[in-house]
Amino acid sequence: MSPTPPATHGPGFEADPHPAYRWLREHSPVHRVDLPGGARAWLVTRYGDARDVLADPNMLKDPARADPVWYRAGLGLPFDHRPSLVRSMVNADAPDHARLRGVTAGAFTPRRVRELQESAERITGELLDAVEREPAPDLVRDLAYPLPIAIICDILGVPRANRPEFHRQAAVIDSSSPDELDAIGAATDWFDAYLGELVDARLRSPSDDLLGDLVEAHRSGELMRDEVTSTAFLLLVAGHETTVALIGTMFLLLLRHPEEMARLREDPELVGPAIEESLRLESPLQNATWRFPAVPATVGGVRLEAGEPVLVSLLSAGRDPERYEDPDSFDPGRGASHLSFGHGAHFCLGARLARVQARVAVTAVLRRFPGLRLAVREDELRWWPSMIMHGLFALPVAFDRTAA
Ligand code: HEM
Repeated sequence: MSPTPPATHGPGFEADPHPAYRWLREHSPVHRVDLPGGARAWLVTRYGDARDVLADPNMLKDPARADPVWYRAGLGLPFDHRPSLVRSMVNADAPDHARLRGVTAGAFTPRRVRELQESAERITGELLDAVEREPAPDLVRDLAYPLPIAIICDILGVPRANRPEFHRQAAVIDSSSPDELDAIGAATDWFDAYLGELVDARLRSPSDDLLGDLVEAHRSGELMRDEVTSTAFLLLVAGHETTVALIGTMFLLLLRHPEEMARLREDPELVGPAIEESLRLESPLQNATWRFPAVPATVGGVRLEAGEPVLVSLLSAGRDPERYEDPDSFDPGRGASHLSFGHGAHFCLGARLARVQARVAVTAVLRRFPGLRLAVREDELRWWPSMIMHGLFALPVAFDRTAA
């Protein structure tokens, strides 16, 4: 194998990032990455190191604790630098983290998620009615994307009339593409203003939804206003892009493995394990969010200075041969745990909800669409050009219409 580190961005990497991660795990498992502006970051690719970093309370999330070179470079997307959108639990450390997480946790309890499952089934049914009539169906555009966004709008309490615009702006944010920075900036402005209006409306008249709860927490002094809008924004972004990616990739894996698809059709109980295997094999979130050592740290034998930004590759950890036998194969029977929902204090708040949505989507499609197959060659599929997300842009499919 070549001694030169492979590219970790660009079209070749996006189409298939796994060879680059395999190289890094073998040759440079804690890899130094030079960032624009003179900052350096570390990319952690082995499962054991990844888990240790995620569990380490000295790996801080607050960007103010980062190396000032990194912070000043203004890296990332426009919304990463706006107080009204960035002051949420995912960028907070103890004790603020528990306070910010605590006010939203009630919306994701097992009971609430069971109730949301009914909405997910209803929305999926309506979306699939439209797929049935659609001459050129695309399971990302027609199902994976609209389902989670409808659910998160219900949770937050986004009025029905505003949803088409909300969808349009969210699609721009979703692209997370460095080529779209101006458009993402404009969509960020839109969300900033729109979430501000929703908060003002609830300050005038309370509402029975998550945004209403957050505004009540603001009224009682538990949350600052920026924390309310930032939490709503986090839930919107974290709550749907990742689920879109999971559902799209899950279908691709089933289309690649028709024998598994047939088994799942026979026995829907197997859908749950297949979703976990999809999460392990193709983590929707390619890297966890940035972490910064509070004090110098040693990871995988490499010394990291305080404040140096650290990225943990969840996608790579899921394929580490030290952790998984035959790691590149899709084997829902292996029943292995994974890091694709994170680990430790920042473990995904919406994991239960994401699993429910994916299960509802896969079960319904398999039931309704016999003969499901790709409508294009697999090498024509495009993946999001992002170091953050790992998901398909589109998944054109066909099915046996006479039988449907
Ligand atoms: C397949 C879908 C999803 C995946 C793969 C996923 C993955 C993750 C991961 C890896 C983290 C940890 C990030 C880190 O430690 O840097 C995380 C955190 C989070 N996720 Fe998810 N997520 C998904 C769906 C959702 C949904 C549906 C919601 C809510 C509606 C949600 C809300 C959150 C929140 C609020 C956090 C921050 C938790 C904290 O900082 O304490 N996620 N997610």
